[in-house]
Amino acid sequence: MGSAAPSNRPLEVAMEGLARLEYRGYDSAGVAVVTPDGLASAKRAGKLSNLREALETAPLPAGTVAIGHTRWATHGAPTDLNAHPHLSEDGRLAVIHNGIIENFQTLKVELLDAGVSFQSETDTEVVAHLLARAYAESEDLTAAMLAVTRRLEGAYTLLAVHAAEPGTVVGARRNSPLVIGLGDGENFLGSDVAAFISHTREALEMGQDQVVTITADDVRVVDADGNPAEGRRFTVDWDANAAVKGGFGTFMEKEIHDQPKAVADTLLGRTDGQGNLVLDELRIDEAVLRSVDKIIVIACGTAAYAGHVAKYAVEHWCRIPVEVELAHEFRYRDPVVSEKTLVVAISQSGETMDTIMAVRHAREQGAKVLAVVNTHGSTIPRESDAVLYTHAGPEVAVASTKAFLAQITACYLLGLYLAQLRGNKFPDEVAGYLEELGKLPEKIQHVIDHADEVRAVAEAMKDASSVLFLGRHVGYPVALEGALKLKELAYIHAEGFAAGELKHGPIALIEEGQPVFFIVPTPRRPVLHNKVVSNIQEVRARGARTLVIAEEGDEAVNEFADVVFRVPRTPTLMMPLVTVVPLQIFACALAGAKGYDVDQPRNLAKSVTVE
Ligand code: G6P
Repeated sequence: MGSAAPSNRPLEVAMEGLARLEYRGYDSAGVAVVTPDGLASAKRAGKLSNLREALETAPLPAGTVAIGHTRWATHGAPTDLNAHPHLSEDGRLAVIHNGIIENFQTLKVELLDAGVSFQSETDTEVVAHLLARAYAESEDLTAAMLAVTRRLEGAYTLLAVHAAEPGTVVGARRNSPLVIGLGDGENFLGSDVAAFISHTREALEMGQDQVVTITADDVRVVDADGNPAEGRRFTVDWDANAAVKGGFGTFMEKEIHDQPKAVADTLLGRTDGQGNLVLDELRIDEAVLRSVDKIIVIACGTAAYAGHVAKYAVEHWCRIPVEVELAHEFRYRDPVVSEKTLVVAISQSGETMDTIMAVRHAREQGAKVLAVVNTHGSTIPRESDAVLYTHAGPEVAVASTKAFLAQITACYLLGLYLAQLRGNKFPDEVAGYLEELGKLPEKIQHVIDHADEVRAVAEAMKDASSVLFLGRHVGYPVALEGALKLKELAYIHAEGFAAGELKHGPIALIEEGQPVFFIVPTPRRPVLHNKVVSNIQEVRARGARTLVIAEEGDEAVNEFADVVFRVPRTPTLMMPLVTVVPLQIFACALAGAKGYDVDQPRNLAKSVTVE
């Protein structure tokens, strides 16, 4: 935020904006103010109250501009040092960042070679040093930002301030949001309008790769080449409560809409510049990983279904047997585990007690544990031998959605990493799979953008008392997840089955009008596809109402489906990332139609920290 004369207001506005974003949950926070005498900053790991206390003990001086940040770690643990802002070596420039700088390793090596010393493990600090060097040449913060963003790959929202330009804040964005708030004698920047909604409702949306410079009474937007650009002006008509949900009625809807980004961010920055996949933390000898003869996935709830999906891909790519086990079951039987077993623990929170206990048990038995976790600084990654973080961002709604897609994506990266390491796949094959994964965010977006019919069908089904879900191959865990979402959100009896199991029991449940969802494999796998189409006919013949999720162009299902929800053409192994989305939207809409609280369903907790 920028204002004319030095006062406490910029810092107060920044702190209030951070408090408004507190619902997101985060791991650290920090602020910087530019004062007549230079730049001052403070940052603390933990909740915003830690930062507030630090500022009470050691207040920052009055300033003309202030920036503030709450962090959700992607590179580097949530510590005071890794919190933002990050400063240049001379302490005169500060930068905050949301997103992931994909080529930060390469840039960091370049800076280290030039003698720059780093204070943190973050990708963001690279930007602080690059900006300082660019500023030394141009002595213009906007020009420095333009020069630096040209070199950055990945996704970012950046804000920077410099002691030599005490009335200015410069921002930039690529694949990450930044909104300008237009005030009276003061202007604002925020990653969403919730940050400044109590000060102004007049806003400007920034386009991709644009750079903005604000002062107390001026806002200038330029494109990547420095030419003047127009932002789209709009008036925020959300109330403050809706604003924190990005304009959606519930966090669950927001998080469903966040899914393309969750997948895209999880894929960002995973290669080392030579095309080799990298993990976030690896405390296992690569020779040990090469000798792994069994993988056991341990997890609970939705995370376990992500593991179940991953089993199909990892076995196919790596030729290693994969077992998927609920963490609480694994812990209390006598699992066959050896030094050659790799245990993969999947958890959004990193704090699920059942999974923590299973991790400990596995390590006691001599297994190596690799964590796939969304929350930095949580217990599971700390207690594991290797970590691959999902970059879904904070998930607020109790029932998991975007973390699920990010978990599958991360497990696929892990599968490809192991396949490459063990020589099952060559780098060019891995690159081909990565390319296919890279197309998924757009496909997921397409499903989200065409979900009106899913919502209409859901609302019309609000009195259903039982819904079945059937799928085969990777569609099977999707069926399980579809049923779980409906149980969790709408309190409807729902069961998922492997479609092949139909004749061995579930078909006895079919009676007139029984709704049955089918997750249909691509027709490009005719053996799988035809079997599921036969299953649809079998239940239809017995009076079921068939709701079918099928690929675009798959006309074979039309004759036997009461409703068809289409998803884009996708390779078989990647289909779960698109086919689960209509099921999430269905459960959310149906629960909403029943008037239930989809963000906090009864009896459930986001993180189950007791066994
Ligand atoms: C709870 C949540 C689920 C989640 C499960 C595992 O049951 O309600 O949404 O899938 O815990 O949580 P984790 O944090 O370990 O992924």
